[in-house]
Amino acid sequence: MQIREIMRACPVMPVLVIEEAEHAVPLARALVEGGIRVLEVTLRTPAALAAVKAIADAVPEAIVGVGTVVRPEQFAEAKAAGARFAVTPGLTEKLAVAARAADMPLLPGVMTPSEVIAALELGFDALKLFPAEQAGSLGMLKALGGPLPQALFCPTGGVTPESAPKLLALPNVGCVGGSWLAPKDKVNAGDWAAITALAREAAALRP
Ligand code: 3PG
Repeated sequence: MQIREIMRACPVMPVLVIEEAEHAVPLARALVEGGIRVLEVTLRTPAALAAVKAIADAVPEAIVGVGTVVRPEQFAEAKAAGARFAVTPGLTEKLAVAARAADMPLLPGVMTPSEVIAALELGFDALKLFPAEQAGSLGMLKALGGPLPQALFCPTGGVTPESAPKLLALPNVGCVGGSWLAPKDKVNAGDWAAITALAREAAALRP
């Protein structure tokens, strides 16, 4: 599955920080039940790769990927765990080469016009605008759409259920990313129904 297809599959890509591997499957099931099946598991916790493997094995409806990839070797590790795509907060040539070598669809992070052009030169036209709020969010995306309409964005960082609809209405936004779908207190309490409700609201955000 190509990155643009993954971006079209859900209006919101949940940014998941999974501390306990045993939370992974019920969390994924709760999100899928609410209509959110693209899941970004950030490689920020020791449990992350085990969480990816558990979701890939037990929740086939989910499209599970990894986020916070910052080292080239992480693509192959993620692939072995069952990840179907990867997200990085920024892009270097080393990361681009390693993602291709691992045959891993990549959503690379950019923040400036020069970074967009560099990503296009490296063959990526589906990009994560990160950190979106600090980069100017709506205004920045509108401004980038003039000279660089070939780039499609997933703004992430500071996006909220309130700001998401306006972002999703832009022609150069494919989806948005955000951590609000899996609040830490709800995950720790095992309140999967609350997470399904948040996912349902998020899934309805694209008109
Ligand atoms: C992150 O890296 O944690 C993401 O950008 C999510 O940001 P958010 O918590 O503002 O949604």
